[in-house]
Amino acid sequence: LLWICICASIISSVTSSLTFHGHKVIQVQLETEEHVKLIKRMDKEFQFDFWHPDSSSRIAPKMTVDLHIHANHTDNILQRLKLNNIQFEILFHDLQTGIEAQLDNRRFHKSKKHSYMKYNDWETIAKWMSTMASKHSDLVSQLKIGETYEGRPMYVLRVGQSSPAGPAIFMDCGIHAREWISPAFCQWFVRELVSGYSKDEETKKLLTNLNFYILPVLNVDGYVHTWTKDRMWRKSRSPTSDCNCFGADLNRNFNISWCDIGASDEPCSEIYCGESAQSEIEALNVANFILSNLKSIKAYISIHAYAQMILYPYSYTYDLAPNTKELDEISKGAASKLYSLYKTEYVYGPSASTIYPTSGSSDDWAYSQGIQYSFTLELRDTGDYGFLLPEKQIKSTCKETTAAIIYIANYVLSHS
Ligand code: ARG
Ligand code: ZN
Repeated sequence: LLWICICASIISSVTSSLTFHGHKVIQVQLETEEHVKLIKRMDKEFQFDFWHPDSSSRIAPKMTVDLHIHANHTDNILQRLKLNNIQFEILFHDLQTGIEAQLDNRRFHKSKKHSYMKYNDWETIAKWMSTMASKHSDLVSQLKIGETYEGRPMYVLRVGQSSPAGPAIFMDCGIHAREWISPAFCQWFVRELVSGYSKDEETKKLLTNLNFYILPVLNVDGYVHTWTKDRMWRKSRSPTSDCNCFGADLNRNFNISWCDIGASDEPCSEIYCGESAQSEIEALNVANFILSNLKSIKAYISIHAYAQMILYPYSYTYDLAPNTKELDEISKGAASKLYSLYKTEYVYGPSASTIYPTSGSSDDWAYSQGIQYSFTLELRDTGDYGFLLPEKQIKSTCKETTAAIIYIANYVLSHS
């Protein structure tokens, strides 16, 4: 068995990147229990890559489900959907074409120059972080919070002029590797703060009294993997007890009701909870960083894609959190600020009932540590492009999201 594992890992380390010619992404409208059963049965047979929700265990009648299906199975699957009168729409006829279309300027990408309007690879983001810290040393500092499983540094940018003991907001992007708009937003937001500091009073006031801790890429190994080997990768990259399967879902690995509802103990699952709570070094590093700054961190914000939602605890139970009313008010205000720019509609509410229940998630964990203002944002879109949101939409997505986060930050500042 050991030899098979070694062989498998050698093979996987030399193989080139996966392509998705002929793969499709479909949006299926489930009406009845029969529909749900059929999708679950086909998932066992064909192993769908669920785009939304995150796994077949979460699907129910009256639900819209986005599925990535393998080229070899498309005819068979589409035929069976038709036979069973299940409505569906094809989002990507050829996923490889969609992946290539996401980057709108190939020549630019060859240059590896950092751009806020492009998706940047890890190397470019890392270089950008140290440039920001040295160029704006009065406002920005770079902190290393640990290393990933594969040994890459995890950096947080601290933005703000409050003393380190003053109130702070922690925000992370890129827990899930394939959600590229998320790291793009964290980068955009840092620039927005830095340029706003000298240009507008609101940002200046915010940064004089509050610090932001921004982690632009939490799952660095996974993010690198999406650029080099598999665009559709979600999890971390640590080995598991099954030598064919790597990584845990970092948003199922935190030490809160670990590996319960909405998580799986199977290493090959996309929502694998890991070997134990915070077994993943990336989750552990984040938890330790937050714990060591717990006195100052007043809010936790995690940026994901896609669904257009503002979510607050709980996720691991349908029970309502003690300050639900307040969290709902804040979300409502943030969603309306967001809407005011381009009329992008967001839904908001408790995570479990608004998107689906999950356990071991970072927002619930932060909340359990006494951080009362804990949010997860699911950015654009609602499935037209899904994880492959074109670069053309980075600017508007980031601008509207900035409006929402600034709203939350102002609220937090005036209530702490
Ligand atoms: N889409 C994210 C995930 O699957 C978030 C789901 C909601 N859960 C939460 N804890 N906010 O991990
Ligand atoms: Zn996510």
